[in-house]
Amino acid sequence: MNQDQLKAMLGEYAAHYIDRYLTLESYVGVGTGSTANHFIDALAQVKHRFAGAVASSNASAERLKQHGIAVLELTQVDELIVYVDGADEIDPQLAMIKGGGGALTREKIVASAARQFICIADHSKSVTRLGHFPLPVEVIPMARSVVGRALAGLGGKPTYRQGFNTDNGNIILDVSELNMDSATAMETAINQIPGVVSNGLFALQGADVLLMDKDNEIQEITASQA
Ligand code: 5RP
Repeated sequence: MNQDQLKAMLGEYAAHYIDRYLTLESYVGVGTGSTANHFIDALAQVKHRFAGAVASSNASAERLKQHGIAVLELTQVDELIVYVDGADEIDPQLAMIKGGGGALTREKIVASAARQFICIADHSKSVTRLGHFPLPVEVIPMARSVVGRALAGLGGKPTYRQGFNTDNGNIILDVSELNMDSATAMETAINQIPGVVSNGLFALQGADVLLMDKDNEIQEITASQA
């Protein structure tokens, strides 16, 4: 299977995996990206089993609506039964780097409202140590250079993501060469920089379950097994 076929298999699997949690009153948090898109397409098959979805991006909201799935604002919902999303990297503790698609801030917010985070990632996203994928950092536009200097002070090499604005109207700096000896410490340190909205490290709150392919079969990995 090629990578897109693996992503489609994971999306389909996840839609059935979450069925055990669904009730007619429940809301599902939905991530962003090509793997999440496959999940959305598969979710359409079980749309009669839950009340609606909260999306982590305008693109995902649009795709959900095209499938006839009710999309709500997070402000309209008390709790999400699950949050399902992809990742750019995931380590054995189920800490992640996310934000390749630039939706990291809304992803972190929507994930925080969910009872559990289910990550769907093909095996190419598995790493023993985070940090090969440049870390996306969402920044208020006027703070671009001051944040860039602060990130360099933390040992990183920031690159401005040309021609890209987030759904929140901000910019992204993609930061390579950060020291990830402690991903939680780095996540916290970057969040302290004035002008940073959020960063793509999901280490303080990682995934609860990872669905990942191995030899074209899907494995269910929980954080406690990691
Ligand atoms: C978007 C994300 C995505 O989950 C991440 O980039 C993975 O994307 P894909 O499923 O297309 O490989 O964090 O902001």
